[in-house]
Amino acid sequence: MDKKTLLDLSWDDFDEHRDPRPARSQFDDVVERAISRRGFLGGALAFGSAASVFGAGLMSSTTAARAAAHGGFAFTPIDIATDFAIHVPEGYQHKVLVSWGDALWSEADGAFGDNGDLDVAMSDKVFGENTDGMELFDVDGKEVIAVNSEYVNPKINLPADAEGTPRTADEVTLLKNLQGVTIMEVAKGDDGYMVVKDSPLNRRITHETEMTLSGPLAGHDLVKTKADPEGRTVKGTMNNCGSGKTLWGTYLTCEENFNGYFGATGEMPAGDGYKRYGIGGEGRYAYEKFDPRYDISNEPNEPHRHGFITEIDPADPTSTPIKRTALGRFKHENAEMVQAADGRLVVYMGDDERGEYLYRFVSNGVWEEGTNGGDLLDEGTLYVAKFNDDQSGEWLALTPETTGMALPEILAFTRMAASAAGGTTMDRPEWVAANPLKAEAYVALTNNSKRGEGATNAGGDDMGVNAANPRETNRYGQIARWVPANDDHAADAFTWDLYVMAGNPAVYDNAYGGSENVTAGNMFNSPDGMAFSSDGLLWIQTDGDDSNEGDFAGQGNNQMLVGNPETGEIARFMTVPNGAEVTGLCWSLDGKTAFVGVQHPGGSWPAAAGKPRSSIVAVWREDGAVIG
Ligand code: FEO
Ligand code: CA
Ligand code: CA
Repeated sequence: MDKKTLLDLSWDDFDEHRDPRPARSQFDDVVERAISRRGFLGGALAFGSAASVFGAGLMSSTTAARAAAHGGFAFTPIDIATDFAIHVPEGYQHKVLVSWGDALWSEADGAFGDNGDLDVAMSDKVFGENTDGMELFDVDGKEVIAVNSEYVNPKINLPADAEGTPRTADEVTLLKNLQGVTIMEVAKGDDGYMVVKDSPLNRRITHETEMTLSGPLAGHDLVKTKADPEGRTVKGTMNNCGSGKTLWGTYLTCEENFNGYFGATGEMPAGDGYKRYGIGGEGRYAYEKFDPRYDISNEPNEPHRHGFITEIDPADPTSTPIKRTALGRFKHENAEMVQAADGRLVVYMGDDERGEYLYRFVSNGVWEEGTNGGDLLDEGTLYVAKFNDDQSGEWLALTPETTGMALPEILAFTRMAASAAGGTTMDRPEWVAANPLKAEAYVALTNNSKRGEGATNAGGDDMGVNAANPRETNRYGQIARWVPANDDHAADAFTWDLYVMAGNPAVYDNAYGGSENVTAGNMFNSPDGMAFSSDGLLWIQTDGDDSNEGDFAGQGNNQMLVGNPETGEIARFMTVPNGAEVTGLCWSLDGKTAFVGVQHPGGSWPAAAGKPRSSIVAVWREDGAVIG
C-alpha cells in the first residue's frame, strides 16, 4: 500500500492494515440482520434477557417522553445536514474561535499564508491541527483553555509537491509542531470570545517538549534509552486525544494512537508487547527516517515511554508535564476523575481499539480540597472492567497476583495484564463521563465492525458478542453506563445497563435499528466524545460515517446531541461540516458559552475558499442565558 493510501486510513484501519486479523463472512452479517429488532428488545440474542440491559426509563416511558417533544431540553432539536457548514438550534449563535495555523503570538501573524503553507519556524507558535479534547480553567480570574491537537493531515499541511510524505527533517519538525497541546487564554470582547494573543499563559507543547516520567514505571529498564539512561525524562506527548481535568485544576492529556508514530528501519526487537500495541512496520508519518528516536530498531524502548495520561499545569507555562505511569499504558481516550466516598481519587479511562478494555485507577491516598493531588496519581491500583450478562459488573484489580506480571510490566503492558485478569472486550471504549448529580458514569463504545463469533482482539481474546457489546458487525455503537455499589466509585462491584444503542430504525427492524430512544428524528452513529454539563445533561459527540447512505442513510453529518439520563430522551443540538467529527467540549466560566471542537472538516470550511481547517467553535444563546 502506498503512503497516500496509508494516510487515508483511519487510525483503527491503519492498525488493522499493519496486523490483519480474520475477516468475518458475509453469511454472519445476513444471520445478524435476520434477528428482529423487536426480538432483540425482547431478549432474543444469545445472552438472554436483553430487555433488562436497557434502563427502566427507556423501557417504560419512552413513548411518553417522545410525545413530550423535547420538553426536557431548552432548545428545539435540529434536522440532519449534509453540507459544509455548522448548524445550531434556533435562538443560538456560533462563531469560529480559532483555527489551526492561527497565531498565538504576534510574531506568528500571517504565518498561515494565503496559500495555506506554514513556515516551519513559526509552526510551534500557532494553534495546532486537529483539535480534540479540551478543558477550561480559571487561572486567577483569567479563562484558559488547554486543548489537544491529536494528529496531522500531511496532505494539507505539507507543501503540495510533498504529496503528504515529509521529505526533510524540517518537514518532520513541521508535523511534530502542529500536534500536542495548546494552552491559550481566551477572553470575551465586543465580538464574543477571542484568543488572547501574546498572553503570558499561552504555551505550545509538542512532540519535542521535555517531560518527566513518574510513578512505578519511571526508572525501570523498560523505559531507558540512549538519550535517557535513567528512564525518567521523556520528549513529547503524542496523539493527544481526549482530556480530563483534575480536582486541583490541572489538565490531563491522553495519549491514544502513539504506536503509529514509530517505525522500524531494520530488525524489530523481540517482545510480545510490540504486537499487542500495534508497533512495528512503517510509521504513519515516516518520522523514523529522519529522527532515530522514532526508529524502533535503534531505540526499542522509546515506544514504551508513550501511551500514558500526562498531567500539565495550565497556570504555569514553565512547568514540566508529567507522564503518570500508574494510570497504565494503552491507547488512552480520555480520563474522567471523580472522588470516592472516602476521598480517594478514581480515574475512569477507555482504551480505544476493537476489543480492548475499560479501566479504572484508584489512588492509595486521599485527596483533600485545596491541595495539589498530583503525587496521588503515582500510587494506586489499576482495574479492568468485567460486564456480566446479568447486568452486574466488577472491577478486576491488575496486580502481580491476578496477572502474573510485575507491577512495572503491568503498567507498561497494561493490555496484557487486563487480558490475564479476564476483563470484558469492548467495542472501542472512547470517552467516559461521570454524572455530576449522582454516582453514575457512561462510556461511549463507538463501534466495532469486527465484533463477532470467532473474532479476537490484538491479544487473541474472544471478541464474540457479550451483553454490553451485543451486536456482531457493530457499525453504530452504544453507550453503556454503570452505577457503583453503595454509590461509591471505589467499590469493586457495579450494576450496568445500556443508555442507548445507536442504529438506523429507517433501515433496520432489528437490533441494528437501535434502542427505543433512537428514532428517525435523532439518529446518529459512532458516539465518541461525551461530557456532562453542570445541570446533569449528557452531551454526546459523534465521529462516524457521514456518507448519509446505506446503513447511514438519514443520519447526515456528524453531530452533537444532548441526552437526558433520567428519561433516555436524546435530541440533536448541532451538526458539523461534512467530513468533520465533533470532539472536545468545555464551557466558559459563566456557563453561557460552549466551546466545541470540529476536527478534520471537509470542503474548505471554515473559509469560503482554501484549505479545510480544524477549529474550535464558540456557541451561545442569543438571549444570553446559560447553556451548560
Ligand atoms: Fe482519538 Fe478514540 O479517538
Ligand atoms: Ca475520540
Ligand atoms: Ca472515534
